Amino acid sequence: MTDKRRRVLAVGVAALDIINEVAAYPAEDAELRSLCRRIVRGGNAANTLAVLSQLGHNCAWVGTLGSDIEGSEVLKDLDRRGINTSACVRYTHGCTPTSYVVLSRASGSRTILHYRDLPELTAADFAQVPLDGFDWVHFEGRDPKETASMMQDCVGRLPGIGISLEVEKPRPGIETLFALPNVLIFSRHYARSRGCTDPRRFLCDQWDHTGARLLILPWGEEGAYAQLRGEEICYAPPHTPGLVIDTLGAGDVFNALVLDGLLAGRSLPTLLRCCNALAGFKCGILGLDDLVVSAREAGVL
Ligand code: FRU
Repeated sequence: MTDKRRRVLAVGVAALDIINEVAAYPAEDAELRSLCRRIVRGGNAANTLAVLSQLGHNCAWVGTLGSDIEGSEVLKDLDRRGINTSACVRYTHGCTPTSYVVLSRASGSRTILHYRDLPELTAADFAQVPLDGFDWVHFEGRDPKETASMMQDCVGRLPGIGISLEVEKPRPGIETLFALPNVLIFSRHYARSRGCTDPRRFLCDQWDHTGARLLILPWGEEGAYAQLRGEEICYAPPHTPGLVIDTLGAGDVFNALVLDGLLAGRSLPTLLRCCNALAGFKCGILGLDDLVVSAREAGVL
């Protein structure tokens, strides 16, 4: 039997999510009671790793946290999931990133108010992270200058390593990062911010600006698109749960399945189908705990 466990490092945000469930999203200046409050560890990179570890991969996270109780809770959650946090940088000034989330039971939509005052991880911090043995490094597209240096560092220290970049939000200079990774995962939000109305057209337009071999563009409840360099665009329809109850982190789940599919050598149509299956299934359940087990039991994965 071959060992399918791979070592994945993700560089990005781990945060504390304070989630208030409401019957329906409130109007401005309204006063209402929350039906339920949950405090959980969140953050794109950390959520992606939480799913990858459920899939059996050996995961590590690197990013910044405050030296506060919230930071300790975040680390405790990652430890509990077997995600290595030894390279985390903790600041004494500034607090752990916190998201105040309003989750609407009527639609499953999640409105996120994110607060952060911590410095981002720097390339100098990243240079201290031992990379030996990693099969894949995933980055969030944050500070372009530092992220570019980190990706270059990766390539320098581990030539041939797989590198993916999540391009979630438009940021000045973010496009300068497109040259470096093997895989670019765009968000619908980013694509729309670039004026995109046609996902296929968007993908085709990116090739001149990137050295990547694979571009991925999830399109929410309308499915997902992907393209390997020089090949046809691949589309996979969405997996729609009976009832959408919690979309928080669905994109992070999608990204985890991109990495899992690449590490497992899945074909692009299968990879994209699995991404949609688990991200869609996630929207029908609360949170990310036991996601993979539940999806397998339901025959979704
Ligand atoms: C969801 C999420 C939340 C987090 C926010 C900002 O995708 O990762 O868990 O608080 O986005 O990173």
